[in-house]
Amino acid sequence: MNNIQMVDLYTQYVKIKEEIDRAVFSVLESSAFINGPEVKLFTKELSQYLNASYVIPCANGTDAIQIALMSLDLQAGDEILVPDFTYVATAEVIALLGLTPVFVDVEADTFNISPEKIKLKITDKTKAIIPVHLYGQCAEMETILQIANEYNLFVVEDTAQSLGAKYKFSNGTTCNAGTIGDFGITSFFPSKNLGCYGDGGALITNKEELAIKAGMIANHGQNKKYYHDIIGCNSRLDSIQAAILRVKLKYLDYYTDARRKAAEVYDHALKDIPVLNIPSRITYSDHVFNQYTIQIQTKSQATSNKRDLVKSKLAEYGIPSMIYYPLPLHLQKAFKKLDVEIGEFPVSEALTHSVLSLPIHPEITLSQQEFIIEKLKLIME
Ligand SMILES: Cc1ncc(COP(=O)(O)O)c(C=O)c1O
Repeated sequence: MNNIQMVDLYTQYVKIKEEIDRAVFSVLESSAFINGPEVKLFTKELSQYLNASYVIPCANGTDAIQIALMSLDLQAGDEILVPDFTYVATAEVIALLGLTPVFVDVEADTFNISPEKIKLKITDKTKAIIPVHLYGQCAEMETILQIANEYNLFVVEDTAQSLGAKYKFSNGTTCNAGTIGDFGITSFFPSKNLGCYGDGGALITNKEELAIKAGMIANHGQNKKYYHDIIGCNSRLDSIQAAILRVKLKYLDYYTDARRKAAEVYDHALKDIPVLNIPSRITYSDHVFNQYTIQIQTKSQATSNKRDLVKSKLAEYGIPSMIYYPLPLHLQKAFKKLDVEIGEFPVSEALTHSVLSLPIHPEITLSQQEFIIEKLKLIME
Protein backbone atom coordinates (compact mmCIF):
# COMPACT_ATOMS: atom_id res chain seq x y z
CA MET A 1 0.00 0.00 0.00
CA ASN A 2 1.66 3.15 -1.21
CA ASN A 3 1.58 6.72 -0.24
CA ILE A 4 -0.23 6.77 3.08
CA GLN A 5 0.31 10.20 4.58
CA MET A 6 -0.60 11.91 7.83
CA VAL A 7 -2.18 14.66 5.72
CA ASP A 8 -2.67 14.44 1.97
CA LEU A 9 -2.68 18.04 0.81
CA TYR A 10 -1.88 17.23 -2.80
CA THR A 11 -4.89 14.93 -3.33
CA GLN A 12 -7.07 17.52 -1.66
CA TYR A 13 -5.73 20.25 -3.95
CA VAL A 14 -6.29 18.16 -7.09
CA LYS A 15 -9.95 17.64 -6.14
CA ILE A 16 -10.63 21.39 -6.01
CA LYS A 17 -7.85 22.53 -8.34
CA GLU A 18 -10.01 24.49 -10.76
CA GLU A 19 -11.60 26.59 -8.04
CA ILE A 20 -8.32 27.15 -6.21
CA ASP A 21 -6.41 28.08 -9.36
CA ARG A 22 -9.14 30.51 -10.37
CA ALA A 23 -9.11 32.12 -6.91
CA VAL A 24 -5.33 32.46 -6.85
CA PHE A 25 -5.15 33.84 -10.40
CA SER A 26 -7.83 36.39 -9.66
CA VAL A 27 -5.68 37.79 -6.85
CA LEU A 28 -2.66 37.83 -9.16
CA GLU A 29 -4.73 39.66 -11.78
CA SER A 30 -6.02 42.18 -9.24
CA SER A 31 -2.57 42.60 -7.65
CA ALA A 32 -4.39 43.39 -4.38
CA PHE A 33 -1.91 41.28 -2.42
CA ILE A 34 -2.22 42.95 0.96
CA ASN A 35 -5.55 43.61 2.71
CA GLY A 36 -7.38 43.08 -0.57
CA PRO A 37 -11.09 42.35 -0.95
CA GLU A 38 -10.49 38.58 -0.56
CA VAL A 39 -9.31 39.13 3.02
CA LYS A 40 -12.41 41.12 3.91
CA LEU A 41 -14.72 38.62 2.23
CA PHE A 42 -13.05 35.67 3.92
CA THR A 43 -13.29 37.20 7.40
CA LYS A 44 -16.96 38.01 6.77
CA GLU A 45 -17.66 34.46 5.59
CA LEU A 46 -15.78 32.88 8.49
CA SER A 47 -17.62 35.04 11.03
CA GLN A 48 -20.92 33.96 9.43
CA TYR A 49 -19.83 30.30 9.48
CA LEU A 50 -18.92 30.54 13.15
CA ASN A 51 -21.85 32.76 14.07
CA ALA A 52 -19.35 35.16 15.64
CA SER A 53 -19.54 38.96 15.58
CA TYR A 54 -15.90 39.56 14.61
CA VAL A 55 -13.05 37.71 12.93
CA ILE A 56 -9.68 39.46 12.81
CA PRO A 57 -7.28 37.89 10.32
CA CYS A 58 -3.57 37.67 11.07
CA ALA A 59 -0.39 35.96 9.93
CA ASN A 60 -0.60 32.68 11.90
CA GLY A 61 -2.11 31.06 14.96
CA THR A 62 0.81 31.91 17.21
CA ASP A 63 0.42 35.61 16.38
CA ALA A 64 -3.29 35.30 17.04
CA ILE A 65 -2.59 34.19 20.64
CA GLN A 66 -0.05 36.98 21.04
CA ILE A 67 -2.45 39.62 19.70
CA ALA A 68 -5.25 38.32 21.93
CA LEU A 69 -3.05 38.63 25.02
CA MET A 70 -1.79 42.08 23.94
CA SER A 71 -5.43 43.20 23.67
CA LEU A 72 -6.20 42.34 27.29
CA ASP A 73 -4.14 45.06 29.07
CA LEU A 74 -2.04 42.59 31.02
CA GLN A 75 0.99 43.59 33.09
CA ALA A 76 4.42 41.96 33.20
CA GLY A 77 4.36 39.08 35.68
CA ASP A 78 0.64 38.41 35.31
CA GLU A 79 -0.02 34.69 35.29
CA ILE A 80 -1.76 32.89 32.44
CA LEU A 81 -3.00 29.32 32.89
CA VAL A 82 -2.33 26.89 30.04
CA PRO A 83 -2.54 23.13 29.69
CA ASP A 84 0.79 21.40 30.17
CA PHE A 85 0.05 19.09 27.26
CA THR A 86 -0.21 21.19 24.10
CA TYR A 87 1.80 22.65 21.25
CA VAL A 88 4.41 25.10 22.49
CA ALA A 89 2.83 28.07 20.66
CA THR A 90 0.15 28.35 23.33
CA ALA A 91 2.64 29.02 26.10
CA GLU A 92 5.50 30.56 24.13
CA VAL A 93 3.86 33.90 23.47
CA ILE A 94 2.92 34.24 27.13
CA ALA A 95 6.60 34.20 28.05
CA LEU A 96 7.49 36.37 25.05
CA LEU A 97 5.19 39.11 26.36
CA GLY A 98 6.83 39.06 29.81
CA LEU A 99 3.83 37.27 31.32
CA THR A 100 4.17 34.04 33.27
CA PRO A 101 2.82 30.77 31.87
CA VAL A 102 1.41 28.57 34.63
CA PHE A 103 0.93 25.00 33.54
CA VAL A 104 -2.09 22.93 34.49
CA ASP A 105 -2.40 19.16 34.16
CA VAL A 106 -4.87 17.69 31.70
CA GLU A 107 -7.57 15.01 31.74
CA ALA A 108 -6.38 11.50 30.89
CA ASP A 109 -9.30 10.74 28.59
CA THR A 110 -9.82 14.02 26.70
CA PHE A 111 -6.21 15.33 26.79
CA ASN A 112 -7.67 18.77 27.62
CA ILE A 113 -7.01 21.10 30.55
CA SER A 114 -8.52 19.83 33.79
CA PRO A 115 -11.00 22.37 35.24
CA GLU A 116 -10.52 20.85 38.69
CA LYS A 117 -6.78 21.46 38.54
CA ILE A 118 -7.20 25.00 37.18
CA LYS A 119 -8.57 26.09 40.54
CA LEU A 120 -5.47 24.83 42.36
CA LYS A 121 -3.23 27.09 40.26
CA ILE A 122 -5.11 30.36 40.69
CA THR A 123 -3.28 33.11 42.59
CA ASP A 124 -3.90 36.85 42.87
CA LYS A 125 -1.69 37.30 39.80
CA THR A 126 -3.78 35.01 37.58
CA LYS A 127 -5.41 36.98 34.80
CA ALA A 128 -6.38 34.56 32.04
CA ILE A 129 -6.90 30.93 31.04
CA ILE A 130 -6.07 29.54 27.60
CA PRO A 131 -7.93 26.27 27.21
CA VAL A 132 -6.75 24.37 24.13
CA HIS A 133 -9.31 22.27 22.26
CA LEU A 134 -6.74 19.60 21.50
CA TYR A 135 -6.93 17.26 18.50
CA GLY A 136 -10.45 18.46 17.59
CA GLN A 137 -12.51 18.22 20.77
CA CYS A 138 -13.47 21.10 23.08
CA ALA A 139 -12.19 21.52 26.61
CA GLU A 140 -14.84 21.59 29.32
CA MET A 141 -15.80 25.22 28.69
CA GLU A 142 -18.85 25.48 30.94
CA THR A 143 -16.87 24.84 34.11
CA ILE A 144 -13.93 26.88 32.81
CA LEU A 145 -16.25 29.87 32.24
CA GLN A 146 -17.68 29.48 35.75
CA ILE A 147 -14.17 29.56 37.22
CA ALA A 148 -13.24 32.51 35.00
CA ASN A 149 -16.30 34.43 36.18
CA GLU A 150 -15.65 33.62 39.81
CA TYR A 151 -12.03 34.82 39.66
CA ASN A 152 -12.50 37.52 37.02
CA LEU A 153 -10.23 35.91 34.44
CA PHE A 154 -10.13 36.33 30.69
CA VAL A 155 -10.60 33.23 28.55
CA VAL A 156 -8.78 32.78 25.24
CA GLU A 157 -9.77 29.56 23.46
CA ASP A 158 -7.03 27.97 21.38
CA THR A 159 -9.08 26.54 18.52
CA ALA A 160 -6.11 25.90 16.21
CA GLN A 161 -6.96 22.19 16.03
CA SER A 162 -10.74 22.40 16.36
CA LEU A 163 -12.30 24.81 13.92
CA GLY A 164 -15.84 23.63 13.25
CA ALA A 165 -16.25 21.76 16.56
CA LYS A 166 -19.38 22.49 18.55
CA TYR A 167 -19.71 22.85 22.31
CA LYS A 168 -22.95 21.95 24.09
CA PHE A 169 -23.81 23.69 27.37
CA SER A 170 -25.89 21.85 29.99
CA ASN A 171 -28.94 24.02 29.13
CA GLY A 172 -28.80 22.71 25.56
CA THR A 173 -27.27 25.84 23.97
CA THR A 174 -24.69 25.01 21.33
CA CYS A 175 -21.77 27.27 20.40
CA ASN A 176 -18.95 26.97 17.91
CA ALA A 177 -15.50 26.36 19.36
CA GLY A 178 -13.67 29.67 19.45
CA THR A 179 -16.79 31.78 20.09
CA ILE A 180 -17.23 31.03 23.79
CA GLY A 181 -14.42 32.90 25.54
CA ASP A 182 -13.37 36.56 25.30
CA PHE A 183 -11.31 35.54 22.31
CA GLY A 184 -10.93 32.41 20.22
CA ILE A 185 -7.90 31.97 18.07
CA THR A 186 -7.23 29.67 15.18
CA SER A 187 -4.51 28.66 12.74
CA PHE A 188 -4.76 28.07 9.01
CA PHE A 189 -1.50 26.08 8.89
CA PRO A 190 -1.89 23.68 5.92
CA SER A 191 -2.57 20.58 8.05
CA LYS A 192 -5.33 22.21 10.09
CA ASN A 193 -8.96 21.36 9.37
CA LEU A 194 -9.25 24.65 7.51
CA GLY A 195 -5.74 25.08 6.18
CA CYS A 196 -4.32 27.46 3.59
CA TYR A 197 -1.25 26.98 1.39
CA GLY A 198 1.17 28.76 3.68
CA ASP A 199 0.67 30.48 7.02
CA GLY A 200 -2.44 32.15 8.30
CA GLY A 201 -4.44 32.70 11.45
CA ALA A 202 -7.35 34.57 12.97
CA LEU A 203 -8.87 35.84 16.19
CA ILE A 204 -12.56 35.44 16.88
CA THR A 205 -14.57 37.53 19.32
CA ASN A 206 -18.06 38.75 20.04
CA LYS A 207 -16.79 41.83 21.87
CA GLU A 208 -16.55 44.97 19.75
CA GLU A 209 -14.00 46.70 21.97
CA LEU A 210 -11.66 43.69 21.84
CA ALA A 211 -12.15 43.31 18.08
CA ILE A 212 -11.16 46.94 17.48
CA LYS A 213 -8.12 46.66 19.70
CA ALA A 214 -6.93 43.36 18.22
CA GLY A 215 -7.40 44.74 14.70
CA MET A 216 -5.26 47.75 15.60
CA ILE A 217 -2.56 45.64 17.24
CA ALA A 218 -2.31 43.38 14.18
CA ASN A 219 -1.82 46.52 12.11
CA HIS A 220 1.02 48.38 13.90
CA GLY A 221 -1.34 49.79 16.53
CA GLN A 222 -3.02 52.11 14.06
CA ASN A 223 -6.62 52.85 13.16
CA LYS A 224 -5.71 55.72 10.87
CA LYS A 225 -2.72 55.25 8.58
CA TYR A 226 0.52 56.51 10.16
CA TYR A 227 -1.16 57.38 13.48
CA HIS A 228 -0.06 54.72 15.96
CA ASP A 229 -2.05 54.82 19.20
CA ILE A 230 -0.75 51.64 20.78
CA ILE A 231 2.21 49.32 20.30
CA GLY A 232 1.28 46.68 17.80
CA CYS A 233 2.89 44.33 15.33
CA ASN A 234 2.65 43.49 11.67
CA SER A 235 0.51 40.39 11.35
CA ARG A 236 -1.48 40.02 8.16
CA LEU A 237 -3.29 37.23 6.35
CA ASP A 238 -2.26 37.73 2.74
CA SER A 239 -4.84 37.98 -0.03
CA ILE A 240 -3.79 34.81 -1.85
CA GLN A 241 -4.21 32.75 1.33
CA ALA A 242 -7.57 34.41 1.99
CA ALA A 243 -8.75 33.54 -1.53
CA ILE A 244 -7.71 29.89 -0.98
CA LEU A 245 -9.43 29.83 2.41
CA ARG A 246 -12.66 31.17 0.87
CA VAL A 247 -12.75 28.16 -1.43
CA LYS A 248 -11.86 25.69 1.30
CA LEU A 249 -14.32 27.11 3.85
CA LYS A 250 -17.14 25.97 1.56
CA TYR A 251 -15.86 22.40 1.98
CA LEU A 252 -15.11 22.51 5.70
CA ASP A 253 -18.27 20.64 6.78
CA TYR A 254 -17.68 18.04 4.10
CA TYR A 255 -14.05 17.64 5.24
CA THR A 256 -15.19 17.32 8.86
CA ASP A 257 -17.71 14.64 7.91
CA ALA A 258 -15.02 12.70 6.05
CA ARG A 259 -12.72 12.91 9.09
CA ARG A 260 -15.54 11.65 11.32
CA LYS A 261 -16.27 8.74 9.02
CA ALA A 262 -12.59 7.78 8.99
CA ALA A 263 -12.54 8.00 12.81
CA GLU A 264 -15.53 5.64 13.00
CA VAL A 265 -13.70 3.10 10.85
CA TYR A 266 -10.72 3.21 13.24
CA ASP A 267 -12.97 3.13 16.32
CA HIS A 268 -14.84 0.10 15.17
CA ALA A 269 -11.69 -1.85 14.29
CA LEU A 270 -9.51 -0.84 17.24
CA LYS A 271 -11.91 -0.60 20.18
CA ASP A 272 -11.34 -4.13 21.46
CA ILE A 273 -7.56 -4.27 21.30
CA PRO A 274 -6.16 -4.68 24.82
CA VAL A 275 -3.80 -1.92 26.05
CA LEU A 276 -4.94 0.33 23.19
CA ASN A 277 -7.39 3.16 23.95
CA ILE A 278 -9.31 4.79 21.13
CA PRO A 279 -10.11 8.54 21.53
CA SER A 280 -12.89 9.00 24.06
CA ARG A 281 -16.04 10.92 23.21
CA ILE A 282 -17.76 13.35 25.54
CA THR A 283 -21.29 14.68 25.77
CA TYR A 284 -20.38 18.40 25.81
CA SER A 285 -18.35 18.50 22.59
CA ASP A 286 -18.34 16.85 19.23
CA HIS A 287 -15.04 15.92 17.60
CA VAL A 288 -13.59 17.24 14.33
CA PHE A 289 -10.59 14.89 14.35
CA ASN A 290 -7.70 17.11 13.42
CA GLN A 291 -5.92 14.12 14.92
CA TYR A 292 -7.01 10.57 15.65
CA THR A 293 -4.92 9.89 18.71
CA ILE A 294 -4.82 6.50 20.34
CA GLN A 295 -3.10 5.65 23.61
CA ILE A 296 -0.91 2.60 23.92
CA GLN A 297 -0.39 1.79 27.53
CA THR A 298 3.12 0.96 28.63
CA LYS A 299 3.73 -0.90 31.87
CA SER A 300 6.88 0.93 32.75
CA GLN A 301 8.37 3.98 31.13
CA ALA A 302 11.79 2.99 32.38
CA THR A 303 11.78 -0.16 30.27
CA SER A 304 10.97 -0.39 26.60
CA ASN A 305 8.15 1.83 25.46
CA LYS A 306 5.48 -0.14 23.63
CA ARG A 307 4.19 2.99 21.88
CA ASP A 308 7.61 3.72 20.36
CA LEU A 309 7.87 0.13 19.21
CA VAL A 310 4.47 0.30 17.53
CA LYS A 311 5.44 3.54 15.81
CA SER A 312 8.63 2.11 14.39
CA LYS A 313 6.93 -1.12 13.27
CA LEU A 314 4.21 0.88 11.49
CA ALA A 315 6.96 2.84 9.74
CA GLU A 316 8.44 -0.45 8.47
CA TYR A 317 5.14 -1.01 6.63
CA GLY A 318 5.27 2.53 5.22
CA ILE A 319 2.63 3.79 7.66
CA PRO A 320 3.38 7.19 9.16
CA SER A 321 2.28 8.11 12.68
CA MET A 322 3.11 11.04 14.91
CA ILE A 323 3.67 11.72 18.59
CA TYR A 324 1.87 14.93 19.51
CA TYR A 325 3.68 15.68 21.88
CA PRO A 326 6.80 13.82 23.04
CA LEU A 327 7.64 16.21 25.90
CA PRO A 328 5.27 18.12 28.18
CA LEU A 329 5.70 21.89 28.38
CA HIS A 330 7.03 21.89 31.94
CA LEU A 331 9.96 19.68 30.87
CA GLN A 332 10.88 21.75 27.80
CA LYS A 333 14.27 23.45 28.17
CA ALA A 334 12.67 26.73 27.07
CA PHE A 335 10.63 26.74 30.28
CA LYS A 336 13.41 25.60 32.59
CA LYS A 337 13.32 28.96 34.34
CA LEU A 338 9.87 28.14 35.70
CA ASP A 339 11.54 25.43 37.75
CA VAL A 340 8.83 22.79 37.55
CA GLU A 341 9.83 19.35 38.74
CA ILE A 342 9.43 16.02 36.96
CA GLY A 343 6.32 14.36 38.33
CA GLU A 344 4.37 17.55 38.93
CA PHE A 345 1.98 16.87 36.03
CA PRO A 346 1.56 13.09 36.07
CA VAL A 347 -1.22 12.86 33.47
CA SER A 348 0.54 15.05 30.95
CA GLU A 349 3.82 13.19 31.49
CA ALA A 350 2.14 9.81 31.06
CA LEU A 351 0.43 10.95 27.85
CA THR A 352 3.75 11.89 26.28
CA HIS A 353 4.69 8.20 26.62
CA SER A 354 1.40 6.73 25.38
CA VAL A 355 -0.12 8.90 22.63
CA LEU A 356 0.14 8.03 18.97
CA SER A 357 -1.68 9.85 16.17
CA LEU A 358 -2.69 7.77 13.16
CA PRO A 359 -3.16 9.13 9.63
CA ILE A 360 -6.50 10.92 9.36
CA HIS A 361 -7.60 13.42 6.74
CA PRO A 362 -10.58 13.88 4.42
CA GLU A 363 -8.81 12.12 1.55
CA ILE A 364 -7.83 8.91 3.33
CA THR A 365 -9.34 5.87 1.59
CA LEU A 366 -11.01 2.88 3.19
CA SER A 367 -8.36 0.56 1.73
CA GLN A 368 -5.59 2.69 3.24
CA GLN A 369 -7.33 2.53 6.61
CA GLU A 370 -7.85 -1.23 6.30
CA PHE A 371 -4.14 -1.64 5.63
CA ILE A 372 -3.24 0.50 8.66
CA ILE A 373 -5.68 -1.43 10.87
CA GLU A 374 -4.46 -4.83 9.67
CA LYS A 375 -0.83 -3.96 10.38
CA LEU A 376 -1.60 -2.29 13.69
CA LYS A 377 -3.51 -5.39 14.86
CA LEU A 378 -0.62 -7.58 13.79
CA ILE A 379 1.88 -5.44 15.73
CA MET A 380 -0.33 -5.38 18.83
CA GLU A 381 -0.72 -9.19 18.97
C1 LIG B 1 -2.79 24.04 19.63
C2 LIG B 1 -2.07 24.99 18.73
N1 LIG B 1 -1.98 26.28 19.08
C3 LIG B 1 -1.35 27.17 18.30
C4 LIG B 1 -0.78 26.81 17.11
C5 LIG B 1 -0.01 27.82 16.32
O1 LIG B 1 -0.48 28.01 15.02
P1 LIG B 1 0.55 28.48 13.87
O2 LIG B 1 1.41 27.34 13.50
O3 LIG B 1 -0.39 28.93 12.77
O4 LIG B 1 1.32 29.63 14.42
C6 LIG B 1 -0.86 25.48 16.69
C7 LIG B 1 -0.28 25.06 15.42
O5 LIG B 1 0.27 24.03 15.19
C8 LIG B 1 -1.52 24.54 17.53
O6 LIG B 1 -1.62 23.24 17.19
